[in-house]
Amino acid sequence: MTRQKTLASLNFFSLVGLTHTLTYLLLVLNTPSTEASAALESHLLTRVGADPLRSCKPPDVTERTGISVKSVIACSRQCVADAGCQSVAFHDVDGVCLLYDQSWDEAQCVDTAGWQTWVKRRTDGVVCENGGQLKPDGSCQCLSGYVGDTCQRLMEDCLEGKESGHYPDMGRNDQIFLLSKPRLSSRAITVGCSSDGETIFQQRYQTSRVVNFTRGWQDYVDGFGNDKQYWMGLQNLWYFTNSKSYDLLLYIHLYNDTRYNPRYTGFRLTENATYTVSLGPPTDDMSALGDHLKDMNGQRFSTYDNDNDNSTTRNCAMEYGAGWWFNACAEANFNGQMSDTGVRENVLDEMFWEGLNTIPKAVRLKLI
Ligand SMILES: *[C@@H]1O[C@H](CO)[C@@H](O)[C@H](O)[C@H]1NC(C)=O
Ligand SMILES: *[C@@H]1O[C@H](CO)[C@@H](O)[C@H](O)[C@H]1NC(C)=O
Ligand SMILES: *[C@@H]1O[C@H](CO)[C@@H](O)[C@H](O)[C@H]1NC(C)=O
Ligand SMILES: *[C@@H]1O[C@H](CO)[C@@H](O)[C@H](O)[C@H]1NC(C)=O
Repeated sequence: MTRQKTLASLNFFSLVGLTHTLTYLLLVLNTPSTEASAALESHLLTRVGADPLRSCKPPDVTERTGISVKSVIACSRQCVADAGCQSVAFHDVDGVCLLYDQSWDEAQCVDTAGWQTWVKRRTDGVVCENGGQLKPDGSCQCLSGYVGDTCQRLMEDCLEGKESGHYPDMGRNDQIFLLSKPRLSSRAITVGCSSDGETIFQQRYQTSRVVNFTRGWQDYVDGFGNDKQYWMGLQNLWYFTNSKSYDLLLYIHLYNDTRYNPRYTGFRLTENATYTVSLGPPTDDMSALGDHLKDMNGQRFSTYDNDNDNSTTRNCAMEYGAGWWFNACAEANFNGQMSDTGVRENVLDEMFWEGLNTIPKAVRLKLI
C-alpha cells in the first residue's frame, strides 16, 4: 500500500516534468493517527486563498525538496520542522508534498485541481498586545477598541476603530461598547459605537430598564445610565470634541417608524467649567423637520442644581426635568421624559422636538 503510493508519486513527478535536478527525499511516513494533530496544521500553516478549499499550486518554480507523505498534516509538519521552508504544496491523491523556500499570496497561486498550497505564518517576533490575536498573515486582530500594528493603543474614537479594520462585525443598527482614548483624555473611556463608526454620546429608547434623566450636575458631568440608555458625560464629551473636529448627528425614531438623521456641523464644547456648546448650521435641508437646535449654540450646560441658562427668571433645567444647553429655554429636549405611546401631552418635561407632534420612540446623539 505504502509502496504503491511512493511509486505513484514518482510516476506523477515524471509525468508533469517537475523532477528538475532535485533529489526527492522519499520518506515513507508512518504517522500514528494520534499524532495527526489538526491543531499543528491550523496553528503553523495557513491555506492560501480566501476560499478555504481553494485548489491551487505555486507558480512553476523549483521547489526546495519534495517528499511523499500520507496527509497534508504530515506535509505541513515537514515544513514546520525545516526552518528554511516557507510553504508547501500538497497533492491529496498522489500524496506529493513539495516544500518551497518562499511564500505565496493568493494572486500567485495557480488554480490546479488536486493541489492545495499552505504557507507558514509570519509569526516572527510579532506579539499582539492587550488581548489582540495573531492572524494567519502575521498581523494582529485587536479587540476591545485597541488599534495599531500590535494593538498597542486605544482608538481615538469609533471612526478610527472602524477604519482600522479591528472593529468587530455587527448588524446595520447594532452598537458595541469599546474603549476609546481621545488625545486629551488621560484615561480610557467606554463608548457606544455604531456600525457606521459614530461615537454615541446619548441614547434613549423605551425599554424595561428605563433610566431617570432628571439628574443633577455631577451626574451630567460624569455620565450615567446602562447599555440601553445613557449619557456619556460632559467631561468625556469635552475630551472628544477638543481632541478632533466633529459634526453632531441626531437620530430621531418615531412610533410610526419614520426616522430622521439631521446633521449639524462643528459640534464642540468650548470650555470645561460650564461646558458651553458651539454648533454650526445643519448640513441637511431642515424644512420638513425644522431647525430646533439653532438657539442652543453658545449656551452653557444647565441642570436643576446648576442653572447656567440664558433666562434671568427661569430655571429651565428644573422645568424641563433634564440637563441641557438651555437658552430661555429650548425647542428640543432629548433628555426629557419618554412616553409609551408617543402622544404629546404638551408638558414641559416631556421629550420633544418642536414641530413634531409626537414623542420619539428612540433618540441618539452622535459624534461623527
Ligand atoms: C428622577 O429623579 C428625580 C431627582 O432625583 C426625582 O425627583 C424624580 O422623581 C425621578 N423620576 C422618576 C420617574 O423616578
Ligand atoms: C410619521 O409621523 C410624522 C410626524 O407626525 C409624519 O410627518 C410622517 O408623515 C409619519 N409617517 C408615516 C409613514 O405615517
Ligand atoms: C479644562 O480646560 C483647560 C483649558 O483648556 C485645561 O487646561 C484643563 O486641563 C481642562 N481640565 C480638565 C479637567 O480637563
Ligand atoms: C441670551 O439672551 C439675550 C437676551 O434675551 C439675547 O440677546 C442673547 O442673544 C442670548 N444669548 C444667546 C447665546 O443666545
